[in-house]
Amino acid sequence: MSSNTPFKPDPTTQSNYLDVTTEHVEFNWEIDFVFRVIEGSALHTMIVKADEVYEVIFDTGDLHIESAEVNGSSATFVLGDKHPVMGSSLHIPLPSPAKKGTKLQIKISYKTNKDCVALQWLEKEQTQGKTFPYLFSQCQPIYARTLAPLQDTPSVKLTYSSKVTSVLPVLMSAIRVSPPSSGPAHDGKEIGKDKVTYAYNQPTSIPSYLIAIAAGNVRFKALPSEKDKNWTCGIWAEPELIDAAYWEFSEDTARFLAAGEKIVVPYKFGVYDLLVLPPSFPYGGMENACLTFLTPTLLAGDRTLVDVVVHELTHSWFGNGVTHTDASHFWLNEGFTTYIERVLLQTLHTPAHRGFSFVIGYKGLTDDLKNYETKPKYQRLVIDFDVGEDPDDAYSQVPYEKGANLLLHLERVLGGLDVFLPYIRNYVETFMGRSINTDIWKAHLYEYWSKNGGEDKLNALDSVDWEAWLHGGGLKLPVEMEYDLTLVQEAYALAKRWDESRTKNVASLDFKKSDLDSFDSNQKAVFLERLQSFKPLPAAHIAHLGKIYGVAATTNTEIRYRYYEVALQDPSTPEAKAVAQEAAKWVVGNDGTGVVKGRMKFCRPVFRAINSADTTVARETFEEYKLSFHPIARRLIEKDIGLAVV
Ligand code: BES
Ligand code: ZN
Repeated sequence: MSSNTPFKPDPTTQSNYLDVTTEHVEFNWEIDFVFRVIEGSALHTMIVKADEVYEVIFDTGDLHIESAEVNGSSATFVLGDKHPVMGSSLHIPLPSPAKKGTKLQIKISYKTNKDCVALQWLEKEQTQGKTFPYLFSQCQPIYARTLAPLQDTPSVKLTYSSKVTSVLPVLMSAIRVSPPSSGPAHDGKEIGKDKVTYAYNQPTSIPSYLIAIAAGNVRFKALPSEKDKNWTCGIWAEPELIDAAYWEFSEDTARFLAAGEKIVVPYKFGVYDLLVLPPSFPYGGMENACLTFLTPTLLAGDRTLVDVVVHELTHSWFGNGVTHTDASHFWLNEGFTTYIERVLLQTLHTPAHRGFSFVIGYKGLTDDLKNYETKPKYQRLVIDFDVGEDPDDAYSQVPYEKGANLLLHLERVLGGLDVFLPYIRNYVETFMGRSINTDIWKAHLYEYWSKNGGEDKLNALDSVDWEAWLHGGGLKLPVEMEYDLTLVQEAYALAKRWDESRTKNVASLDFKKSDLDSFDSNQKAVFLERLQSFKPLPAAHIAHLGKIYGVAATTNTEIRYRYYEVALQDPSTPEAKAVAQEAAKWVVGNDGTGVVKGRMKFCRPVFRAINSADTTVARETFEEYKLSFHPIARRLIEKDIGLAVV
């Protein structure tokens, strides 16, 4: 029951966070859009945890450190050599050893530089409005250190406050102090010209990866306030997109957040805003505190992609509330979030929607397990990272889907949702505000069920093959799971008809555009995924399918990228080369739209598929357009298509 895994510190930080810990950090920044730097200071309030501490070590990545102060007096500092993944450690020796319980004030003045991985600086042409530049950050998993000197580990949770001066409106993952969000944009000053100082405060402690900033020509639209709630919701986007964004998300956001509160515990961050970013944003969504970042590809015009918002708001409890200690236990964030996201879908829609989401997830899981056949370590739920290993190399659906399926399996063996959800609530109440690992989670699980059920439940827990679930690899889940298949049946049936038509002449096929009439975008996605589970269809069939269903030209990115996966499933055909060309144009926006498909869920598999059909096209296209992609996406695509060593 209690585990004897020895304690391992976070393998991705060089900071001495176990000896001395940041409680609060105050940022004072100025954004320079011309030189593309953020310049200013970070003032840490820290507490000494070890008996005696001689120096404070922070993580930094490509920061230019100008000076340091300890308790108001200037101090020396040493910047270590750059580690390719962890960056450079910043050592600040203390003038005299600090004893346990002492508070320290450490101020570092610094600037970012153009290689900072967390930040993407966009030209005005890369935005919707094409009039002003744009800046945004992505700090998870370990890039906060390229934005500021920090103890960049989720084991440390800190509060923060900031003052940021900029010629464009500034958003941060915190509560706006001034000027008010619903006041005139940019405090009534001239956007793009006048400097305004934005003040933010994050009074709830968060891991460093949730620190976030965006600056650009953005507008705000508040959602109607909810009765009896001490939180507000609103939507931020460029003016050209604000109405579409409001339409897409206003219906569901507060409703799902309120439903989450009923299942778990009240939302405690005060503000839940959404920001729709430019298309190079590398994720579908990122649960930055108080301000979820979203890809603009969710603006499908039919509210079918709001699941991503449901996922991100669920992180309010799993990840932002209860946090994993380090990358090895990332599944505690994503597995729990994915599991509860689907409970919410079941609660607000139907049980069939929950099953549907598990089915879609299962395809992603098996694809990723296959991708990692040569790296079986990353097929595991708990990954034993070496010091300095890159957690982004292990980013996949495994922690999401294996994690969510483990919880679904536990729900089933322990007696169903009615008894399992009270357990989940107890888990959150117990660990809210803390960072925990898999051992702590499992010890609490056993403790809860021994108090709330006894022998039977403990036997049920002992029936779980823990070794296989937590530390096993392979291409399958340890248990064959059953899901509600109601919503996938039609999509599966249509895919089967295509599979059975493979020997027929294209001219004699009786498929019609209306086959998809009753499908929403998720069902279309399932249809295209199901096709990939069969042997590749003949090229003529695929071309026909792309045309009659319009999926080869659709503006719905979720559908279009899956079409390319189907069409490039057999990369050796002569037709595949032509499709690879088209896919290459589409993914970088060289198709007349100018819209890059920067979300990694889309661009990485598409680049991989192009690469398997025509390496030259993949590499040349990437080289020409790489600056359109976020630095994180750039690094990973380079690895995927063999332009960088893994
Ligand atoms: N926190 C993740 C995004 C993330 C994870 C960024 C690890 C960097 C490192 C976010 O909550 C997420 O899971 N996004 C998904 C959304 C989906 C599962 C609904 C995405 O972007 O695809
Ligand atoms: Zn997530």
